[in-house]
Amino acid sequence: MSRPTLHIIIASTRPGRVGPAIAAWFEGVAKEQGSFDVAVIDLKEFNLPIYNEPGHPMTGVYAFDDTKKWSASVTRADAFVFVMPEYNHSFNAALKNAIDFLHREWNYKPVAFVSYGGISAGTRAVQSLKPTLTALSMFPLAEQVAIASHQQYLADGVFHAAAGLDDVAQSMLGNLARWTSAMASLRE
Ligand SMILES: Cc1cc2nc3c(=O)[nH]c(=O)nc-3n(C[C@H](O)[C@H](O)[C@H](O)COP(=O)(O)O)c2cc1C
Repeated sequence: MSRPTLHIIIASTRPGRVGPAIAAWFEGVAKEQGSFDVAVIDLKEFNLPIYNEPGHPMTGVYAFDDTKKWSASVTRADAFVFVMPEYNHSFNAALKNAIDFLHREWNYKPVAFVSYGGISAGTRAVQSLKPTLTALSMFPLAEQVAIASHQQYLADGVFHAAAGLDDVAQSMLGNLARWTSAMASLRE
């Protein structure tokens, strides 16, 4: 039987961001865990403008190629992990903007989180985002990989996870796989 597709979405788009380093670590864990076919999706590569579609995303009718490309990507996924920073005690604007562009593409898909930041470890960002995700009929998992003071684990652009973090990530992926399987029937 084929495995479901997991998209690990790098939410940060700023020059010098640490998101790709953390996503690269998580990609390795996800491949080892083995429940999913894994792809890393970099929001920066989509280069989405501030929301500019004339129609409501519920229609699925898009005027711009950028949106169509983004729609095709999200459609391919059965589940998501957002690798997301905390900006001003909330989620970063690029992530919310990218979410807003689409609607049905997100429906009935589960999402888990790898968050990072200072002492709050990005937990406020994740909590702030959950109402948006449920508005799209997504299921945000309670499990979360939350990395506090992430800078201490970065050396030469590589993220070196603290002891035990791989186990937390594997456990979250196991639960994500269960929700992915359960929610597949809702999309039929
Ligand atoms: C605009 C901005 C606001 C930030 N606000 C917070 C914050 O509220 N809490 C926090 O823990 N870190 C905050 N930070 C620090 C980020 O956690 C840190 O810069 C992190 O590396 C951002 O992720 P990125 O490098 O992948 O963009 C902020 C950073 C920026 C650029």
